Amino acid sequence: MIQQKIPGKPVTVTINGKKYRANEGEILLSVAIREKIEIPHLCFEASLDPYGACRLCMVEVVRKGKREMATSCTLRAADGLEVLTDTPEIEKHRSILFELYLAEAPKSDVIRDMAAHYGVTRTRFLKRIEQGDPLGNKCVLCGLCVRACSEIMGAGAINFINRGPYTVVNTPYYAPSRDCFGCGACVRVCPTNAIEMEDVGADRVMKSWSDTRVPLSQCECCGRYYAPRELSASVLARLDTPLKEEIARLCPECRGKQLAQNEILAGRGGRATHG
Ligand code: SF4
Ligand code: FES
Repeated sequence: MIQQKIPGKPVTVTINGKKYRANEGEILLSVAIREKIEIPHLCFEASLDPYGACRLCMVEVVRKGKREMATSCTLRAADGLEVLTDTPEIEKHRSILFELYLAEAPKSDVIRDMAAHYGVTRTRFLKRIEQGDPLGNKCVLCGLCVRACSEIMGAGAINFINRGPYTVVNTPYYAPSRDCFGCGACVRVCPTNAIEMEDVGADRVMKSWSDTRVPLSQCECCGRYYAPRELSASVLARLDTPLKEEIARLCPECRGKQLAQNEILAGRGGRATHG
């Protein structure tokens, strides 16, 4: 469940010897991102609770002269917290992880470029290449798509299937999903661009998810198919001020134009009345 956190009191944290302001309880990785301090990460998504799955965001925490490793996406800012992001131990840990990810997702340009940025261009591990892999041999099993689908959208259309080295993400039994809204949240959060989705005619096709097809709404003005039908209906139904039916049947662009036109006409009417 996503927990909304109220910003805590201002605190000072030290990253690589430099002091930064943060809110107490703020995720250290968020502080680093805000301050443009490079920490590689794959499974962190601000709209989801931190999970600590990819282990790439490790930093060293300095406490009373001792150091211990921690994932910066689960570490919370507290006054006096001191971390180091690029020690030899961290670099060694990252290199091994990058080698593992190069083997796990051998076709991912994102992983290849990220690893190369940290000086890792080869892997000693056996590359996992599967012919016809629905995720194009680009998935690192970070779980973000699964969590976005269930925790943000409440759909639960995809999940981890199989175990151990055979673990993959897909729909149950590789069958087209009836629970998928075709919202594309999974595509948006995937750090390796592994998920394929395409609008084909009147359907959105979630190619990676067993070719699940979701019908799209068609704009009554321009004829364009523009958004998953059920999803847009449920969003429109939840608006505080409901849209008139003839406006609700338009795509966002035509809707905007129509509303602007209505306002201009209403303005003219107003002026005519008062003139
Ligand atoms: S498809 Fe993308 S988001 Fe989903 S587990 Fe694989 S890498 Fe993560
Ligand atoms: S981003 Fe922290 S463990 Fe993945």
